[in-house]
Amino acid sequence: MSSTPLLKVDAIDASIGAINILHGVSLSVASGELVTVIGANGAGKTTLLRVISNVLKPRAGQVEFDGVSTTEVDAYRLARRGLIHVPQGRQIVPTLSVYDNLIIGAECSEIVNSDDFIESLEREYSRFPVLRERKDLAAGSLSGGEQQMLAVSRALMMRPKLLMLDEPSLGLAPQIVRIILNALRQLADEGIAVLLIEQVAMAALSVADNAHVLRNGKIALSGTASDLRRDQALIESYLG
Ligand SMILES: Nc1ncnc2c1ncn2[C@@H]1O[C@H](COP(=O)(O)OP(=O)(O)O)[C@@H](O)[C@H]1O
Ligand SMILES: [Mg+2]
Repeated sequence: MSSTPLLKVDAIDASIGAINILHGVSLSVASGELVTVIGANGAGKTTLLRVISNVLKPRAGQVEFDGVSTTEVDAYRLARRGLIHVPQGRQIVPTLSVYDNLIIGAECSEIVNSDDFIESLEREYSRFPVLRERKDLAAGSLSGGEQQMLAVSRALMMRPKLLMLDEPSLGLAPQIVRIILNALRQLADEGIAVLLIEQVAMAALSVADNAHVLRNGKIALSGTASDLRRDQALIESYLG
């Protein structure tokens, strides 16, 4: 694991309008590492991802990704540089086929019509075989779990260095959540940096290396995922 983290979030304060949402949030993610941020509804998890993606400017603090300050780089350029955000609610294109949704990801990384495209597509079809079976169907006809797999695969077609996911388990059955979280663990083991935002604390901790609990916009607790798992009662008290 590299000693310089790929993502470094340092003492972020962020507001929406006049309301302060994040207070002094710091964390880092290295290549090959899966870090989870867990917190209840309204804790500020989505706001944190929006700051990292430079969709929302922080009031104070720094975000550094792959050696550059993200507040200086447009969000779409950050994506080109390998910072990819799978938003809450998936945002696949329901009227397009599964295959066409994957092409959109490839186009964003400029690998369409190349051997790289075929290779990436085959890799995603092996990761989630159901996507190969359903490749010609409208994405909107897939189950919620299949749509989440598609959202993850589309993001991976962009060849991220850092993959950030906002509550991928939302609304999914536990066995589907397991498939998705195991795929994220595998990505980290392949060397990608993964930042996983979740409310389902124990499931996220079971695949993460390190974890932070976000409460009312502050990091209330941090540690290795295995240490935090031992204190389920404490974690649940923070999640309310
Ligand atoms: N567009 C907005 N306008 C006003 N308040 C917002 C807006 N978006 C989020 N908030 C508030 O910011 C806080 C954190 O929201 P969010 O980051 O979405 O939390 P989480 O993702 O952890 O549920 C919440 O109190 C929420 O009500
Ligand atoms: Mg959210």
